[in-house]
Amino acid sequence: MLSDLQKRDLKHLWHPCSQMKDYEDFPPIEITGAEGTILQTEDGELIDIISSWWCKSLGHRHPKIQEAVKAQMDSFEHVILANTTNATIVRLCEELIALCPGYDKVFFADSGSDTVEVAMKMSLQYHLQSGSPEKKKFLALENGYHGETVLTLATGDCGLYGEPYRSLMPDVPKITAIPYVNSQQEWEDSQKVEEAWKGIEVQLNKFGSSVAGIVIEPVIQGAGGMLFYHPLLIKKLYDWCEKKGSHLIADEILSGMGRLGQARACELAGVNPHMSVFSKSLTGGFSPLACMLTSNDIFEAFYDDYETGKAFMHSNTYCGSAIGAAAAVASLGVYRDEDVFARVRENESYLLECFEEIHRNTGHLQNIRARGAIVAADLLVPEGLEKSRLGYEIYREAVKRGMLFRPLGNTLYFLPPLNTDKVVFERAVEIASASVKAILG
Ligand SMILES: Cc1ncc(COP(=O)(O)O)c(C=O)c1O
Repeated sequence: MLSDLQKRDLKHLWHPCSQMKDYEDFPPIEITGAEGTILQTEDGELIDIISSWWCKSLGHRHPKIQEAVKAQMDSFEHVILANTTNATIVRLCEELIALCPGYDKVFFADSGSDTVEVAMKMSLQYHLQSGSPEKKKFLALENGYHGETVLTLATGDCGLYGEPYRSLMPDVPKITAIPYVNSQQEWEDSQKVEEAWKGIEVQLNKFGSSVAGIVIEPVIQGAGGMLFYHPLLIKKLYDWCEKKGSHLIADEILSGMGRLGQARACELAGVNPHMSVFSKSLTGGFSPLACMLTSNDIFEAFYDDYETGKAFMHSNTYCGSAIGAAAAVASLGVYRDEDVFARVRENESYLLECFEEIHRNTGHLQNIRARGAIVAADLLVPEGLEKSRLGYEIYREAVKRGMLFRPLGNTLYFLPPLNTDKVVFERAVEIASASVKAILG
């Protein structure tokens, strides 16, 4: 039975990332409020175990972020960022540079996708203006995801999202045979990377000095199936880029700002990519602010008299919005004051245990893997059910039981707010176990 609101919704609202027909028998969930990890709905509470598309890193309605946003709104919400400045955005730049040593400059855009494109455009223009116009090719990793604009779809490797638009996309070759980490023991063993590197280097060398940049999701490839790889691979890619004068572009939109227990996943590899992109947890998920950090080396290639045409002309209307900047400054403050990143590192093994318990309860998980505040596993799919939408069926069961749990295909994962309490996880494990059992027995 559809409520009045659901009927009105379905009349006009075309939901993102949805086959709208699915809503005929499982209509959109009516949200009436949210606090911390909990969403209030017309039918009761739901645990937001996926941080609302991975962005609510400090949960919903965090009081310190709310307070900062309200205070900013009392002076102004947004003013064009070309030709103006303000205390909030300057403070944010200073804090980001302090948090990410090795960088000097911050460029703002609206969304994560926009900002990955910013980095790629900037890299291409840098090479044009630095005497290397032959560097035009971008490479990326298989199973990557970098957003929904045509260039970022081309850079990503998630067929479903990009396939219909293939005719518009430039060719961004994918580096294959990534040595994925499928169990916790493999974090200790970098040998798998050493062995895989020989093959990867051959693939890179094929493009040699034509490579403008390599775009990666460091350590965790989210939308591609919550696939982890060892940080040593980042170090090897960085060294290759340095040797060839190419750029390593780290898309830290998912991995950064504490999700893996550091400001940047690349810290795990001990390298500073030529550009790093942040969004999502940057504002604690309050507002669509995104930014790219880079160095003076790159900045200087754009710095000249206006008539030379060397300026970087990218602009998004709401880039660096003051509300987003206020939310970001407040979020960075909470990360620091509450030692959130350290807490993430301490909880990693607990999250792993959560999935081990789901497996003990159901017998249906394999490849259980965790890093920072992400734990994932693949369903052991019984014979004959290979073509079923098991993940989607489990999602529906979980919602009925009180959790927003959205498997990626047949990969189950928790990606909770970084400050989630253990009592919430206990309930999450019960709901996930019951939902898997309801579908797979
Ligand atoms: C690694 C990564 N890059 C880029 C994006 C795209 O960001 P946005 O949705 O803000 O455009 C996402 C979103 O999930 C992401 O996870």
